[in-house]
Amino acid sequence: MTIEPHGANDLPEHKPRRADVDPRAAKRAERQVGFMFLASGLASAAFIVAYIATPIDDTIPLPGFGTTNASNLFLGISMGLALFLIGAAAIHWAKKLMPDVEIIQERSAESSPDDERGALLDEYRRGVDESTVKRRPFILGSMVAALGLAGLPAIVLLRDLGPLPGTVLRETMWEPGMHILIAETQQKIRPEDMEVGTLVSAVPEGIELVMEEEGNLNALAKAAVMLIRMDPNEIVADQTPEGQEPWTYQGIMCYSKICTHVGCPLGLYEQLTHHMLCPCHQSTFDLADAGNVIFGPAARSLPQLAITVDEDGYLVAREGFAEPVGPSFWERG
Ligand code: FES
Repeated sequence: MTIEPHGANDLPEHKPRRADVDPRAAKRAERQVGFMFLASGLASAAFIVAYIATPIDDTIPLPGFGTTNASNLFLGISMGLALFLIGAAAIHWAKKLMPDVEIIQERSAESSPDDERGALLDEYRRGVDESTVKRRPFILGSMVAALGLAGLPAIVLLRDLGPLPGTVLRETMWEPGMHILIAETQQKIRPEDMEVGTLVSAVPEGIELVMEEEGNLNALAKAAVMLIRMDPNEIVADQTPEGQEPWTYQGIMCYSKICTHVGCPLGLYEQLTHHMLCPCHQSTFDLADAGNVIFGPAARSLPQLAITVDEDGYLVAREGFAEPVGPSFWERG
């Protein structure tokens, strides 16, 4: 590596920076860098003070966002500021004051000289002739077949990944008339058991048996739902297709509990706004507006389960989900 004087090797003419020619500008830049480092130190000190002085449960109003934890807010701001100022000072220092030289590294040609490449080719041809492979087509053919077939076992091993999914990604165990049970108590539920504003995690009747038979939680991972009761006047829309009986019953809506992003269970419900937040990547669904996504990486609204009541007044599924629940996958409509 050689260090060339400015302007050599057809580079555009080097223009000195202000701080290179004006000592006062250099001093000013030096002070700016120093102050940023000092301010960063103060922000680090503020972090420690906030950590000690802010009670862990204190909240603070954030205009437009409700309230937030004061300790987290102060710690985040002070730590962010401290790191930002160190970065900004380093960049400012490098741009204004560090040596401004252009370094040129000479490179040799990438390819080998023609005579070397010719010699290699000759060597290869001589090797092929000496191997007599051209005169033994049977060996050549069988070798090509063997090499081709050698890849097949890898394809067969794909079977170990499990059975083809079939319809399991598309269907849950919900069926018409199936009772909706409170997840915690496994009891049936009537509309009058739910006050406006209530959210209840629920499962289909018989899920325990299915889980016992299957020996895993797959059925629950797909069929878990939430019942939410809201004032019918606050419902903007549900997913009832035109001409069908309403999927919502007396303001009670039933949605899949599985986030349509990558499948985390939902559970952070904002009663006033009817927003459901996914704790994993903050996708937010508006349950009063057909479960539509209003924020975050999820691309699809939450599937809604059509519900009604049986002759005894208990909530039941009107039918199964009309679309696959959970994350998107290939072949999904
Ligand atoms: S899994 Fe819900 S936002 Fe990612």
